[in-house]
Amino acid sequence: MEHGLFIAFEGGEGAGKSTQSALLADHLRERGRDVRLTREPGGAPASEAIRGVLLDRAFEGMSPRAEALLFAAARAEHVHRTIRPSLDSGTDVITDRYIDSSIAYQGVSRALGVDVVEELSLWATEDLLPDLTVLLDVNPHLGLTRTGEPDRMESEPLEFHLRVRQGFLSLAERAPHRYLVISADGTPESIAAIIASEVDSLLDGDAA
Ligand code: TYD
Repeated sequence: MEHGLFIAFEGGEGAGKSTQSALLADHLRERGRDVRLTREPGGAPASEAIRGVLLDRAFEGMSPRAEALLFAAARAEHVHRTIRPSLDSGTDVITDRYIDSSIAYQGVSRALGVDVVEELSLWATEDLLPDLTVLLDVNPHLGLTRTGEPDRMESEPLEFHLRVRQGFLSLAERAPHRYLVISADGTPESIAAIIASEVDSLLDGDAA
């Protein structure tokens, strides 16, 4: 059986990842494909429980290493229980955040180091990488105004989010063939059309 396609959406706060991941899921379903839409931290029962700890403002000041390990633990369970079984059964998986979020937030912005955080996530996932990562790039000045009641991560100062943004952009520069970088300034419809066209090229085997 053919493996499903694995697509990750990444970006800062208020970039529109949830909207765009849902629109891509609709597009793929219209093409007759089975799609599993999921998110991180979360996407499996234990991972959702860990999410509760990670985003709870009661734990402000959590040590960066504890934070990185919890994100990695949530991801390990998500991959084991949800992502890999879906891909193996031929279902496409779209995840709202994945490894790059750990690299940008914990590796770069919390200054734990890109290499160590990447290695931790690759160990957690047994090296499962997306076929395509869509990076929705947004200026945090704007993105942070689009969020509701801030959770523990969103409550970090603006400089924290500015570093996150640079972290994401550097990752995309490092491996451009695995990324689609789009400015989140456009309308949701125009952004969705660009993403759908890129994913269609992947599925149809175009050289694009
Ligand atoms: P969420 O409410 O899902 O945010 P968003 O709607 O912006 O995706 O909260 C996830 C938060 O956790 C978000 O601030 C990014 C952060 N995060 C990390 O710091 N590291 C990670 O590995 C992941 C997956 C998320």
